[in-house]
Amino acid sequence: MSEIKNIGVFTSGGDAPGMNAAIRAVVRTALYHDLQVTGIRRGYEGMINGEYEPMNRKSVSNIIQRGGTILKSARSDDFRTPEGRKLAYYALKKNKIDALVAIGGDGTFTGARLLGEEYGIPVLGLPGTIDNDLVGTDYTIGYDTAINTVINAVDKIRDTAESHDRLFIVEVMGRDSGLIALRTGVASGAEVVLIPESTEDLPALLHRLEHGRKDKSSRIVIVAEGDHEGGAFEIGNLVKERFPQIDTRVSILGHIQRGGKPTCMDRVLASQVGFAAVEALKEGRSGEMVGIINGEITFTPFEQACKKHSKLNTNMVKLVEILSL
Ligand code: F6P
Repeated sequence: MSEIKNIGVFTSGGDAPGMNAAIRAVVRTALYHDLQVTGIRRGYEGMINGEYEPMNRKSVSNIIQRGGTILKSARSDDFRTPEGRKLAYYALKKNKIDALVAIGGDGTFTGARLLGEEYGIPVLGLPGTIDNDLVGTDYTIGYDTAINTVINAVDKIRDTAESHDRLFIVEVMGRDSGLIALRTGVASGAEVVLIPESTEDLPALLHRLEHGRKDKSSRIVIVAEGDHEGGAFEIGNLVKERFPQIDTRVSILGHIQRGGKPTCMDRVLASQVGFAAVEALKEGRSGEMVGIINGEITFTPFEQACKKHSKLNTNMVKLVEILSL
């Protein structure tokens, strides 16, 4: 194994609050070890197109508290092709980059795994996605900020729901995962949570509205955008049709969930895994995501990290149901 001299760092896929704290940790740790560090802009797109910039202490000053990513992000179709990855490899060589830290979610890690396998570049990943849908870490960078954004929004929605005796169907992010919905459902006192991992949730909602308490003034239902029964509008239309007496409104929270200042938890997580990734690259590790499980740094092969959390935490579903009776 040749010695690492120049680490490339990039963010890819959907941005997440805390990505900047992760970039800062990677840059500052690399500099601490007298390594060069190069920022690659716009994820794999920029890697192919030559968007490289050397980074120093100042490049990451005053960013730990900022949402988004100073390196920008993109979803790249070209990188999915062998030709695209070959161009990326040549551009990395041209810029004398001999190891990578990839910050993102499962799409990012699938690309990182292929690049490592095909061209032998050492690469480690940091879990950066609001969805928390990676195996090998208790939490992903951005999740804590996103769920706090959601509960702040739902608290406000509840004020108006309560004033008008209304039911609100609130759609939250999570294309393939109900983890944002489930946790915010508990924290916001939702009636029912509708998530892609379950087929029993829609019947449960209809049953609750038919047979449940009739004296409730406000009701909140949280729907994950990836729910197979449809999004909030479809569920809203169904409820309006079946229960015309219930004054029902729909609210889609959308991309506000991806923005804002990262919480303390996301900043600390990002700093810890960013630091650990540089140390681990120096020790010769590659092809893994760096996460934290029960307070300990862990390394999970990319292939494993990308497996969906298919097992639903039924206790959380039950918790939502019982506590809102
Ligand atoms: O993966 C993060 C995420 O925010 C998902 O929850 C959501 O489905 C998706 O990204 C939206 O992506 P885009 O901003 O590209 O529409």
